[in-house]
Amino acid sequence: WGPEGHAIVADIAQRHLTPAAAAEVHQLLALEGKTRLDQVSSWPDEIRRDHPETGPWHYVDIPLRAPDYNRRRDCPQGDCIVTKLPHYVRVLADRKASPKVRLEALKWVVHLVGDIHQPLHNNDHDDKGGNTVKLVYFGEQTNLHRIWDTGILEQATGLRMQPDYSFDHAATRKIAVGMDDAIGAAQRARWTPAHADKDIDAEAVRWSDQAHTLARDVAYADLPERRVGDWEQGYQAKAWPVVRTQLEAAGVRLGAVLNAALR
Ligand code: ADE
Ligand code: ZN
Ligand code: ZN
Repeated sequence: WGPEGHAIVADIAQRHLTPAAAAEVHQLLALEGKTRLDQVSSWPDEIRRDHPETGPWHYVDIPLRAPDYNRRRDCPQGDCIVTKLPHYVRVLADRKASPKVRLEALKWVVHLVGDIHQPLHNNDHDDKGGNTVKLVYFGEQTNLHRIWDTGILEQATGLRMQPDYSFDHAATRKIAVGMDDAIGAAQRARWTPAHADKDIDAEAVRWSDQAHTLARDVAYADLPERRVGDWEQGYQAKAWPVVRTQLEAAGVRLGAVLNAALR
């Protein structure tokens, strides 16, 4: 996701922290003068250029036609999102690790729970997760990956990321609150089954498989071969409910992961 998507996920999670988790998050963020999770939610993207080895940690290339994630095929080096996310959850939960190391782990967990819910971060079709599929979306020259990171959300909400990646935190928070208030208890319970936090490795695979299915059934299936006329209207109508639901699910699940790691 882009910065606004990551901030929305962080804002939803922040609202559901237990007092113990909220206090510990507050303490860790205070190490660098921050108070809220949305302020650090895009940090791994900011350091990506200086640390190219972390690039693959943001996604997993499951082939579009494969039914689901296969570790030997899709993550042989152990440097994909499905393995890095559980790794950083364990570092965050480790009270023997230094505060500095745990703060860095917190930033990775907040970011990666977001990215693992972006359908195209769990997929490859010989196109770098859609990055090489060039298209014009509502008048803007962009690509398939980018519209799922930012374009669909911006079109639906009117949010606009600035060229320097800064954005309006207050506007993003308002959207997050609106989304969160609309989530019912039943939906919330389905996203966070009891005891799921006991096996974060299995949860990460489950989330990745779900997002992979959405990439296949929506992001690619509904993309017309010939993108003429006002095809964007129809595509946006199919894609936005998926983006919205994935951001909500990520926020709810991130809250549960932090509450379990920091209890
Ligand atoms: N680069 C290669 N594959 C990618 C993916 N699935 N998501 C983001 N960046 C990628
Ligand atoms: Zn992306
Ligand atoms: Zn990322």
